[in-house]
Amino acid sequence: MAKLTIRDLNVRGKRVFLRVDYNVPLEEKDGQMVITDDTRIKETLPTLKALIEQGGKLILTAHLGRPKGQREPSMSLRPVAARLAEMLGRPVAFVDDCIGEKVEKTAGLLKEGDVLLLENVRYYNEEEKNDPAFAEKLAKVADVYVNDAFGAAHRAHASTEGVARVVAKRGGKCAAGLLMERELKFLGDELENPARPFVVILGGAKVSDKIKVIDRLLEKADTILIGGAMAYTFKLAQGFKIGKSLVEPDKTSVALAALEKAKKRNVQFLLPTDNTVATPVVTDKLNKKGKPIIDLNNPRTNSEPNIPDSEEGVDIGPDSAAKFGDAIRSAKTILWNGPMGIFEDKRFAAGTNAVAQAVVDATQKNGAKSIIGGGDSVKALNKAKLGDKVTFMSTGGGASLEFLEGAELPGVAALSDK
Ligand code: 3PG
Ligand code: MG
Repeated sequence: MAKLTIRDLNVRGKRVFLRVDYNVPLEEKDGQMVITDDTRIKETLPTLKALIEQGGKLILTAHLGRPKGQREPSMSLRPVAARLAEMLGRPVAFVDDCIGEKVEKTAGLLKEGDVLLLENVRYYNEEEKNDPAFAEKLAKVADVYVNDAFGAAHRAHASTEGVARVVAKRGGKCAAGLLMERELKFLGDELENPARPFVVILGGAKVSDKIKVIDRLLEKADTILIGGAMAYTFKLAQGFKIGKSLVEPDKTSVALAALEKAKKRNVQFLLPTDNTVATPVVTDKLNKKGKPIIDLNNPRTNSEPNIPDSEEGVDIGPDSAAKFGDAIRSAKTILWNGPMGIFEDKRFAAGTNAVAQAVVDATQKNGAKSIIGGGDSVKALNKAKLGDKVTFMSTGGGASLEFLEGAELPGVAALSDK
């Protein structure tokens, strides 16, 4: 890797300012906020253990949710400190602020190998503004800066970018953590020269979210499989009816351009050949946002090219799942980003689960490298209890997508070169 990593450091006795992505899902239970998925915490443990072993004094900083500069109690990192202590098997101190005297005092008392977690940096508006004065305040307790927050590396915020600049200007080192290094390896280097066939599976709601990734991967992939609602934009572009399916009518030309490019480059581009459809019915019930809940009734397979006017596509159909499965099982490298349908509803999870199983089969039986590009596909794999049967699952959502688009992430750019 072109950037410094913690393997290149010796932090003994130094205060290590470590940015992590502990933006974990929480749920309120009996008045307490409870962590429902601690993957992001778990994935930082190798970095923490390595720095503890080196004798660093660790000061962890993170954001949780989007409190927009307010001290929103439900977005406190305090429950994360408790969980981290359990997982690490040693005490984790917590200060209910991320800058100021209390932080400096506690940081000053740390001994080699001690761990301190600071309160949500987004309790300050200056964080997201990447305010230079705020970055200076954060940097007061930093001899060395380490960024292990791949999931937030697409943000040029004070704790992900500004503080690194401050530390570097003072002659301090800014290095990637081990999770950051792994993410960049799998989503970056491994896909540069992939073992072939290289099969890319893309799903999710919108073509506009994924078009840059599609465009870039058309240069690399042997096969691209498209599922999720974005397939309906392709369908519409090809002149078929899509009924009440989610669609971006203004993106049909983008879809056609991708199909054209695939043809030119001899990339196999597979769209669903059938769909699971259901009839949407507006009910009197309201959701949390006050909008009417829409029931999806009478699910069935539609094998016609057109989707009837009254129906909505909600998943790829069994024929598509089988064809996608065949392509995936023959792959040597797989990148998967985005579900095939509304997998949260088990009636519409068959397509996503079939893809998940095929990815696992290719990994376990065909020796394929399988890389899961974060977000909903990770959720779907974990839901199917298959998370530990793929090569790599990203902890990033937006960050993974931007990185796969080929963007330089500000949180990475700010680190010291080797
Ligand atoms: C994420 O969960 O995607 C990251 O932690 C970044 O959070 P953000 O989208 O609120 O910046
Ligand atoms: Mg996000």
